[in-house]
Amino acid sequence: MDLIKALETRRSVRNYQKRGVDPETIKKLIALATLAPSAMNAQPWAFVVITDKSKLAAYSTRAKELLLSSMDLHPLMEKYRVLLSRKAFNIFYNAPVLVAIYAKPEGPAPEDDTCLAAQNFMLAAHNEGLGTCWIGFSKEMLNSDEFKAELGIPAEYTAAAPMILGYPATDPPAVQRKDPEIYYL
Ligand SMILES: Cc1cc2nc3c(=O)[nH]c(=O)nc-3n(C[C@H](O)[C@H](O)[C@H](O)COP(=O)(O)O)c2cc1C
Repeated sequence: MDLIKALETRRSVRNYQKRGVDPETIKKLIALATLAPSAMNAQPWAFVVITDKSKLAAYSTRAKELLLSSMDLHPLMEKYRVLLSRKAFNIFYNAPVLVAIYAKPEGPAPEDDTCLAAQNFMLAAHNEGLGTCWIGFSKEMLNSDEFKAELGIPAEYTAAAPMILGYPATDPPAVQRKDPEIYYL
């Protein structure tokens, strides 16, 4: 796919087909993600891939509980209180795969680097006919000491870019963009 076309047609996908994603395809997307630039070429990323849908559903419940219990610390989340309180709401939208990119404490800007890798990943996935959606709702849970200990993720890694992945069940409409604020000096 032409790069401009990919930029223009990528969407956050929140409705997925049941079928999973071939591990080789996930590996290819990760390899493309690692072509992103990184400060001092530190490449400070680690990819956690979860393909067990029942585990993802359980993690969704945990993430919602954590967010609801820490709502006072994140006033912007207040508008999601009702949604997050819904038992049926799965923050991962029943997608077959979660790829969480963790930032390792290496180089001067590990979280920035990780976000660049994530954008590569999302565009490369789109090129393969796959959908993605960044799931900020999951960050607190992915960064909790309990979760990292359970999965053997080093405590000093920071979950920076969690994305779901799968084959879209429907094509979401484009979300309106604001006019950019530009200062020509
Ligand atoms: C940092 C970040 C966090 C996000 N968190 C969520 C989320 O938790 N749940 C969700 O459904 N979408 C989430 N999104 C997706 C945005 O809502 C989406 O990118 C935005 O509405 C623009 O739509 P588009 O990606 O289709 O262009 C997140 C996006 C970013 C960049």
